[in-house]
Amino acid sequence: MWWSATLSTLWQGSSSSLWLGAVASVFADNGAAVDVDLGWYAPAQTQVNNLTAVLGGEGVYGFVFNSSETLDEAYGRYNWCNMPHVRPREYAVAGRAYELVYVELVHRHHKRTPYASNAFPVEPYHWDCDDEGLFYHAQPFTTATGTGKDNTQKVATPAYWKGYTSPTNPFVPAGWLGSCQFPQITAAGLDDSWQHGVDLYAVYHDLLGFLPGREDTEEEWRTKVKYRVTTNSITSQVAGMVVHGMWRSTTGVPLAVQAAAVDSLEPKYPCAASGSLFDGIRRGEAWVGHLEAEGVRGLYAVLDDISGVRPDDGGFHASFDHYYDNLSARQCHGKALPCKLINGVESGEECITQGLADEVYRLGQWEYSRLYRDERESLAASAASFGVWVAELAGHLRGVVQGDGDGTLWWHNIAHDGSVSRLLSVLQVEVMVWPGMGSEVVFELFRKRGRDGGGYYVRVLFGGKVMRSSNPSLGVMDMLPVETLLAYFDGLVGKGADLVIGRCNGAV
Ligand SMILES: *[C@@H]1O[C@H](CO)[C@@H](O)[C@H](O)[C@H]1NC(C)=O
Ligand SMILES: *[C@@H]1O[C@H](CO)[C@@H](O)[C@H](O)[C@H]1NC(C)=O
Repeated sequence: MWWSATLSTLWQGSSSSLWLGAVASVFADNGAAVDVDLGWYAPAQTQVNNLTAVLGGEGVYGFVFNSSETLDEAYGRYNWCNMPHVRPREYAVAGRAYELVYVELVHRHHKRTPYASNAFPVEPYHWDCDDEGLFYHAQPFTTATGTGKDNTQKVATPAYWKGYTSPTNPFVPAGWLGSCQFPQITAAGLDDSWQHGVDLYAVYHDLLGFLPGREDTEEEWRTKVKYRVTTNSITSQVAGMVVHGMWRSTTGVPLAVQAAAVDSLEPKYPCAASGSLFDGIRRGEAWVGHLEAEGVRGLYAVLDDISGVRPDDGGFHASFDHYYDNLSARQCHGKALPCKLINGVESGEECITQGLADEVYRLGQWEYSRLYRDERESLAASAASFGVWVAELAGHLRGVVQGDGDGTLWWHNIAHDGSVSRLLSVLQVEVMVWPGMGSEVVFELFRKRGRDGGGYYVRVLFGGKVMRSSNPSLGVMDMLPVETLLAYFDGLVGKGADLVIGRCNGAV
């Protein structure tokens, strides 16, 4: 056993002050104590989390909301439509003493239609997806069973969904019109997904020679990589493109997926205490105060008037999430901002201006920072609800370090903003933003060669750059001793996630 069991006993019956500010000592196999600070530390004070600056500001800090393209010179800048990720042009190759031995990454899916729940009451706008197919079919494996059945002739024809509107069906869906599913990764989002795979392969194969090559036998890479998705089909839509961008394979690749009700990646497992903590933040003074600020009331009045959203619609008025999703999805796809409807028809007048949209985007960023970083409770809320995934990651790292892993070099998780936000929260990112489309966090595990005994180190990249944490034990996450990161994870969620059920049930 690599770690002593002291941490979990330390947590037994602990008070909230322990949770919020403990320095825990963990002992590695070699007996050396690892002190790690499990406390919450406030993020940096920036315009993003400064309500005065948000309300009085203009633009959105140079963030991009209207195109997947970012000029090379500006790559690394926040782009909601297509967040920066690891690619060769910007990638910092580690020093020669460091040998890359394992990579695990998680990224949000790429750009999509809005969710139906984010549509305005009357949506005259169409989203059509006739330029792509959503392939859903099942295929019996020929060799998988011992039943002696011969399935070699039974090959499923690639069958795909084609959305259509029945002229006979008098019911009109709430939300959006058109042949897309709401949500669905758009054709442009599929392009971004494919390029994401191309870029990762260009770094981890071409540049580093870490991953096997496309030209090697499929057996060679298939046994060393794992892809994981959630049960929301948009992550699978992205996965197919990412995998092809990397390997150019057109034969089946398994996508690991947990049962919908307990999935740790989305995350979906029941965690009431986390929900209560997040609700508490939304009932708190700062949150209520931002919704009641004079400028915000005025903004809501204009948005409601143009969109037709009722002022008493709780969903739209509890946060800017819905308006943000509505407006940004349009802009990322080159669609115009909406104008006032008269009798359900677009008037072309009284439109949502770019200035109003930018205000919504600034408020959305502020809300994500508030929810996931600025409030002390955010750490406990995220550690509980994303703790199982964190423990899974810790288990993978530990398997490589201890040499009893399954030989996987590459674990690739395709997830949601709720997944990436919670991870950033657990890592206490210095500047929290709303993770945009494709937003990526990479954990690179290195073995250090050297006469000083070597050891294992982790580098964490967010948007392709080294992540900075406000927690002093993590700090600049560039070649952090793996013992430190594992002690931090163990302290928050328990080795093997053994603290998570208790935390979700309200043990503080
Ligand atoms: C917040 O922003 C306002 C306006 O830009 C500025 O005057 C104030 O100093 C900022 N507050 C902090 C804590 O940085
Ligand atoms: C995108 O937005 C920026 C900043 O608002 C603007 O300068 C640029 O012209 C826009 N690009 C497109 C394609 O609309």
